[in-house]
Amino acid sequence: MPDRPYTLLSCSVSLDGYLGDQTPRLALSNEADFDRVDEVRASCDAIMVGAVTVRTDNPRLLVRSQARRDERTARGLPSSPMKITVSERLDLDARSNFFSVGETEKLVYTSSGRVRDARARLGPVATIVDGGRRVRMRRLSEDLADRGVGRLMVEGGGVVHTQFLADDLVDELQLVVAPFFVGDSSAPRFVSDGRFPWNPGRRATLADVRQIGDVVLLRYALSTRFQDG
Ligand SMILES: NC(=O)c1ccc[n+]([C@@H]2O[C@H](COP(=O)([O-])OP(=O)(O)OC[C@H]3O[C@@H](n4cnc5c(N)ncnc54)[C@H](OP(=O)(O)O)[C@@H]3O)[C@@H](O)[C@H]2O)c1
Repeated sequence: MPDRPYTLLSCSVSLDGYLGDQTPRLALSNEADFDRVDEVRASCDAIMVGAVTVRTDNPRLLVRSQARRDERTARGLPSSPMKITVSERLDLDARSNFFSVGETEKLVYTSSGRVRDARARLGPVATIVDGGRRVRMRRLSEDLADRGVGRLMVEGGGVVHTQFLADDLVDELQLVVAPFFVGDSSAPRFVSDGRFPWNPGRRATLADVRQIGDVVLLRYALSTRFQDG
């Protein structure tokens, strides 16, 4: 088994590169694209989001389509992928959808110094994983591979994207561009500052462009492991 999962980063952004505005769960995408994302989710072993996304969006992170859930169960898989988050503050509500909805396993990565607190707060609803002195996404990815995760979907937000991309841990980027502006520099961006492996001297490979109603999906192959299809 490879040392880390095949990693697909999926998100939607406004024309000016924002992941949202100051309101929770701004719909940047449309129904047809939500259904496409559901299909991608159903193909993955685990979905990861950052703790701010858990707090502000309260996402369920389940496969929505019954047919896709049934198809997974028929293959001997849980009906939805494992859920993963990472947090240092641990200001996470055990009753939020991330923890309380779905039978699937939930993992919370935190630094060694926060493990005891994490177990006290979230132990009954999640598996707490010691991420080391400071949680690094490479080590987290390797740990997920050890747990049998072959395909990981990273679904935001920008702080998590930045670490996966800057550490060259993403094999495929699926970026959906919505046809409007947010126009607020305090809104969350697709990524924050960082040194990324793709720059004017090393351009990413655009693998596919697809119009889905009023949005556009851009698929980039970011590693030699990119799986077309
Ligand atoms: N458009 C889209 O497709 C999409 C998708 C997802 C989210 N969003 C939006 O994105 C926004 C949130 O994005 P964001 O960038 O602010 O936050 P985020 O990436 O969701 O979460 C960041 C938080 O994750 C934890 N974290 C990240 N890396 C860590 C590490 N190495 N070690 C320990 N903890 C770590 C920290 O949590 P603690 O603070 O708990 O320590 C940090 O504050 C929301 O507005 C949401 O609506 C949009």
